[in-house]
Amino acid sequence: MIKIENVEKIYAKGTAKEVVALKHINLHINKGEIFGVIGLSGAGKSTLIRMVNLLERPTSGRVLVDNKDLTALDSKALRQARKSIGMIFQSFNLLSSANVYDNIAFPLRLDNDYSEDFIKTRVQELLALVGLSDKAAMYPSQLSGGQKQRVGIARALASNPKVLLCDEATSALDPQTTNSILQLLLELREKLDLTIVIITHQMEVVKECCDRVAVIDGGTILELGDTLDLFTDPKQQLTKTLVSAAVRRGLPELLRHTEIVKEYRDGDKAVVELLFLGPKADAPVIVEVAALCNVKISILAGSIDHIRKEPFGLMVVEIGGNKEKIQNAIKELEARVHKVEVLGYDRRQQLAELD
Ligand SMILES: Nc1ncnc2c1ncn2[C@@H]1O[C@H](COP(=O)(O)OP(=O)(O)OP(=O)(O)O)[C@@H](O)[C@H]1O
Ligand SMILES: [Mg+2]
Repeated sequence: MIKIENVEKIYAKGTAKEVVALKHINLHINKGEIFGVIGLSGAGKSTLIRMVNLLERPTSGRVLVDNKDLTALDSKALRQARKSIGMIFQSFNLLSSANVYDNIAFPLRLDNDYSEDFIKTRVQELLALVGLSDKAAMYPSQLSGGQKQRVGIARALASNPKVLLCDEATSALDPQTTNSILQLLLELREKLDLTIVIITHQMEVVKECCDRVAVIDGGTILELGDTLDLFTDPKQQLTKTLVSAAVRRGLPELLRHTEIVKEYRDGDKAVVELLFLGPKADAPVIVEVAALCNVKISILAGSIDHIRKEPFGLMVVEIGGNKEKIQNAIKELEARVHKVEVLGYDRRQQLAELD
């Protein structure tokens, strides 16, 4: 649905203020996909999303939406093509002097192609779609943040777009309201067959609804993948840092003040992180492996979470036994769970014995 081909964006080119915001980006986004873009401030995320509707023109490269090369269109054809691309913003961008009805009717009236009767029917449809049928006469100042964003969404959908662009659309909202907007976006994707691009710094947003994610850094795509893969097996350091906000990995609080060492010595317990995915998440793995390998396994921390409705569990356990038994237990665990990572060795008991 969206093809970004070798796109480069240089602001203020040839001046002293020149900024290379995007460096030869190639990106294909599939029809019906919810695609996330994450990255640090200034990485080029907003610039990238503004390439998709040509709110900013690429310095070089092509942008195709629904197989139409936007970069090749004249301004009239571009205006027409833009109707198939809606956009919502962090600050909602509503007209404060117009009520909800008029805000949603605004893009339709701009078009000059529609009768007021048609507009009325369409606005009522849109209000129902976003759950605001009773708010048509209210002004933006009388609405909550979540309601304002619903108006923003209704307005963005007025021209029946195929693509919806969201630049930090939930960043100004509390977690519960964020979630209700995300549920609405998921619902709209199904109902309207939308392709959605979401820029966000909220990892919860990505976790809840993005099919794939791109990590942007310094104007390039640093890492791109399926959300579940990216969250459970990030390759780049920046990705690891970003996803750690949503998926806590590594040593649990309980071991904060304990010396965990890299080298095993006799008597140490292994501290091991287990990652469970999907249906395996509720298998009695721990009990099974403890019995099979004759080791003691104690659970130090555990959580079950969801990435796009897919359950995944993280557990940190300590395995006690001799070296051979511990290694054997780790092998058996590897055969049963998605990923096993030895975080180190706990020397506490040994020190206690030496004391
Ligand atoms: N209109 C502009 N003129 C000049 N430079 C710009 C313009 N817009 C963005 N930039 C620069 O381009 C780079 C990328 O900016 P962009 O807004 O795309 O970042 P971002 O990833 O969206 O950041 P944030 O998370 O803070 O919104 C930054 O260095 C920024 O200063
Ligand atoms: Mg931005």
